[in-house]
Amino acid sequence: MLSDRFGRTIDYLRVSVTDRCDLRCTYCLPKGFKGFEEPANWLTFDEIERVIAAFARLGVHRYRLTGGEPLLRRNLPALARKLTALPGVEDLSLTTNATQLASQAAALTDAGVSRINVSLDSLQRDRVHAISGSDCLDKVLSGLKAASGAGFRSVKVNMVPMEGVNDDEIEAMVAFCIEHGFILRLIEAMPMGQTGQNTRGVDLNALLPRLRERFDLHPSSRELGGGPARYWERADGKFTLGLITPMSQHFCPTCNRVRLSVDGTLYMCLGQEASYELRPLLRGGASDAELEAAIRAAIELKPERHEFVESPGKVVRFMSMTGG
Ligand code: GTP
Ligand code: 5AD
Ligand code: SF4
Repeated sequence: MLSDRFGRTIDYLRVSVTDRCDLRCTYCLPKGFKGFEEPANWLTFDEIERVIAAFARLGVHRYRLTGGEPLLRRNLPALARKLTALPGVEDLSLTTNATQLASQAAALTDAGVSRINVSLDSLQRDRVHAISGSDCLDKVLSGLKAASGAGFRSVKVNMVPMEGVNDDEIEAMVAFCIEHGFILRLIEAMPMGQTGQNTRGVDLNALLPRLRERFDLHPSSRELGGGPARYWERADGKFTLGLITPMSQHFCPTCNRVRLSVDGTLYMCLGQEASYELRPLLRGGASDAELEAAIRAAIELKPERHEFVESPGKVVRFMSMTGG
């Protein structure tokens, strides 16, 4: 078992398979950004498999593939298939913007990906274009449709409400998710890197009483994922809402996760720069025991909490490096 200096058990690894993305969402990347990692530094599928096998031996059972946009990495289902076959890997899920999902959803479930989370901030074509820099709503909706029929255990829609941008669309998004049987998650925007776009997130804790009343929501005790969302559901069980509130009510005391970036760096906290490079070990002939010792040493560096509210400029890397 892996535990950190603050007594937290680490049982969830988020694995970014690329820092590239076909979109430029205002809260994530600057317009026209091109400063991505060199392909020579990308961990290969074999290297990723080796790192995950080591984490699994150390007691980490839940994994999530992220990006950037993970479906841009060629042949991702083949990686998923290798990972779900590893002893100790009990759950593999994926977070995607869904622009490429229509053609890959079936291959992903076939490879053992259990759950999928899709980012979608608006149901209005012009707004999606303005937020993401791409006229991609139709592709995303096709991706979601394919996901619905592909047999995932759950499909979640991730929406980042932003003041004066899409915060009037929560109701419409609830209706959309009820219609399609998706779980809706609202996320507070976090300040990650200077994207050059001033997006102001919404205080979801303050909004919660109104949401609960409007949609008749009761706290849910169902186990719906491995992440930090708190869930509420409608009495008839036909709608579930998750709130992710890093800004208004952070969840660091129960943090259970670290992140692996495409270049083989372990990031210990989304809101801090503490990190540990595994690539030199992987490419320098380290043994499995040395790799496991390095992972344990990395976990020792895990900070207690983020400081997004107190020091909003502190994290200079963009969200696309670690996938949230
Ligand atoms: P499941 O609960 O398993 O469905 O997944 P998840 O919520 O962990 O994954 P997802 O990739 O959908 O993440 C949703 C949002 O939660 C993203 O905006 C993340 O940035 C945010 N998030 C996830 N983990 C953390 C965390 O450790 N700290 C902070 N501050 N935010 C997080
Ligand atoms: N703050 C909060 N959420 C973000 N995401 C990306 N950037 C940010 C940010 N700065 C969300 C995306 C996606 C999830 C993985 O992270 O909308 O759904
Ligand atoms: Fe964990 Fe850091 Fe996220 Fe807090 S901000 S929940 S400590 S990763």
